[in-house]
Amino acid sequence: MVNTTEFIEDAVEEIQEQIGDANAVIALSGGVDSSVAAALAYRAIGDRLTPVYVDTGLMRKGETDQIRETFSYMESLRIVEAQDRFLEALSGITDPEEKRHAIGEQFIREFEREATSAEADYLVQGTIYPDRIESEGNIKSHHNVGGLPEVVDFEGIVEPVRELYKDEVREVARELDLEEIISERMPFPGPGLAIRVVGEVTREKVEIAREACHIVEEEVEDHDPWQAFAAVVGKGTGVKGDNRVHGWIVSVRSVESRDGMTARAQELPWETLQRIQSRITGENENVARVVYDVTHKPPATIEYE
Ligand code: XMP
Repeated sequence: MVNTTEFIEDAVEEIQEQIGDANAVIALSGGVDSSVAAALAYRAIGDRLTPVYVDTGLMRKGETDQIRETFSYMESLRIVEAQDRFLEALSGITDPEEKRHAIGEQFIREFEREATSAEADYLVQGTIYPDRIESEGNIKSHHNVGGLPEVVDFEGIVEPVRELYKDEVREVARELDLEEIISERMPFPGPGLAIRVVGEVTREKVEIAREACHIVEEEVEDHDPWQAFAAVVGKGTGVKGDNRVHGWIVSVRSVESRDGMTARAQELPWETLQRIQSRITGENENVARVVYDVTHKPPATIEYE
């Protein structure tokens, strides 16, 4: 474990040395790693750091507000309202990998524009030790901010938490008063809700998935899954009032896992499942059916796309 007070002092000094009088930019994702990196860099160089949070419209419920609140003390914070542009970029795309690609491209476009207007010479990143090991071993490419160093011609990359493990980052976050960010939230995929709606991404499907994911997260909290969420998987017939409707089918998934590589579908109590079903169908009149996914990984993946 690190001595957090000493770590913060050293990191701030190192960032100041590295960046000097120049400007820097960081992409905030809402996660603890980039939040800690941003807080350290801001402490080091103040408003010469431009933290950029891109609201893709594919985030969890309340995520953007949380960022706005947590980092309200940073005058240079930029919240980019890019929801419409992401929807536009995704329009007509149904293939999962093409969706990921479109999101990555759009993200880079948004970030590049902000970095250029901030006249940033340095890119700060929240890379932690396991990320480096994974990308060296090529296990997983970085989906969220992948490719950023290549698109803008930065003078240097600053990675203040590169030697830390996740639990150490959380300790530093605590010391930096980032309490709101470090709640032990479940992993959330970089492409966000786009891979929790099967097929084309539309505003309606994303809104249903966002609300349903929120309901599932609330209802399964006591069962402590590795990940639990809901996805919009298709359409089917239902009866609402006296009418037959052609509504959305929402699939609920809750899995236990150690590292996401394999997973077991969780045996949730019937009452919990029924409460989830009743809230999801009750809160959206266009949802006709809720199903529970009992498939392990393998053969299924955790996400739907
Ligand atoms: P799968 O669906 O492959 O997911 O079983 C394993 C873990 O990875 C997350 N995941 C992603 N994370 N970008 C990410 O940052 C992605 O494109 C992506 N796809 C899946 C998933 O949420 C799970 O934790």
